[in-house]
Amino acid sequence: MYRLGFIGTGNMGGAMVRAATNGGYAAECILANRSFEKAQTLAQQCGCTAVHTNEEVAADAYFILLGVKPFLMAEMLKGIAPVLQRRQQNGERFVLVSMAAALSIETLKEMAGGDYPVIRIMPNTPCAIGQGMVLVTPDQQVTDEEVQQLCDCLKASGRFDRIDESLMDAGSVIAGCTGAWACMMIEALADGAVQTGIPRQKALEYAAQAVQGAAALVLQSGKHPGQLKDEVCSPGGSTIVGVHAMERGGLRAAAMDAVVQAFEKTKQMRKG
Ligand SMILES: NC(=O)c1ccc[n+]([C@@H]2O[C@H](COP(=O)([O-])OP(=O)(O)OC[C@H]3O[C@@H](n4cnc5c(N)ncnc54)[C@H](OP(=O)(O)O)[C@@H]3O)[C@@H](O)[C@H]2O)c1
Repeated sequence: MYRLGFIGTGNMGGAMVRAATNGGYAAECILANRSFEKAQTLAQQCGCTAVHTNEEVAADAYFILLGVKPFLMAEMLKGIAPVLQRRQQNGERFVLVSMAAALSIETLKEMAGGDYPVIRIMPNTPCAIGQGMVLVTPDQQVTDEEVQQLCDCLKASGRFDRIDESLMDAGSVIAGCTGAWACMMIEALADGAVQTGIPRQKALEYAAQAVQGAAALVLQSGKHPGQLKDEVCSPGGSTIVGVHAMERGGLRAAAMDAVVQAFEKTKQMRKG
């Protein structure tokens, strides 16, 4: 019996396999993916086991992590439903762990064809390097000990927070989508730096490290980001001129709109 089984080892599933590996759980991971080569390559890199079918993972893992796109979830779960049913009939304990955006615990149970214990997690891709944010919602059948066990196995992902399922969609937007928006910001800042004469590679390094440092300061100092911004802005200095340019360009409104519109889209996806 493997502790962690992964079905779907793409961007997010793969990042979680790396997190489990970084936490010392590689030998306890069994992987399956629609194209076997992807699971096999990852397994070779990480020291896990790759298998050819989803059924093998469903039969052999305690936590079965579902890493396929939401629109493919129903079809995938239909394929493993007989295995899950058999395990339940045999009194074998297992927990389904979904990382899919917008699919509720209730919907996942319907798709799986049984009232199985489910944990919804919402990770993000920086989990692969220990800088992730993982939101966690267990259903009532899951014990606190099981939640703890799963978080321990994935602890090398980064930060964890347990939230109510009613906040999961909104939480998934701010924790899951922000990485893409932050990368756009880094790219844009680096473009500006290139315009001022900094070579591209250095511009990207400086911008990325500055954004990472600012984020770490927010998290570690506990100070409000507005205060940290004020601390960089000398009276009559250069930073405040840049702040004005950002405000004129509508940075705050654009950021708020991005979050709200992504949330609206997530709600539409939930309706199918
Ligand atoms: N990407 C993110 O930042 C992020 C963040 C939070 C949550 N998520 C969630 O994570 C899940 C996966 O997203 P992703 O971005 O990782 O997508 P992805 O890169 O396309 O990975 C999905 C993987 O699932 C495999 N797959 C598809 N159907 C399958 C099946 N029937 N059996 C086994 N494997 C199957 C695909 O295999 P092939 O190689 O053959 O295509 C692919 O490797 C989604 O539910 C998404 O909502 C993603």
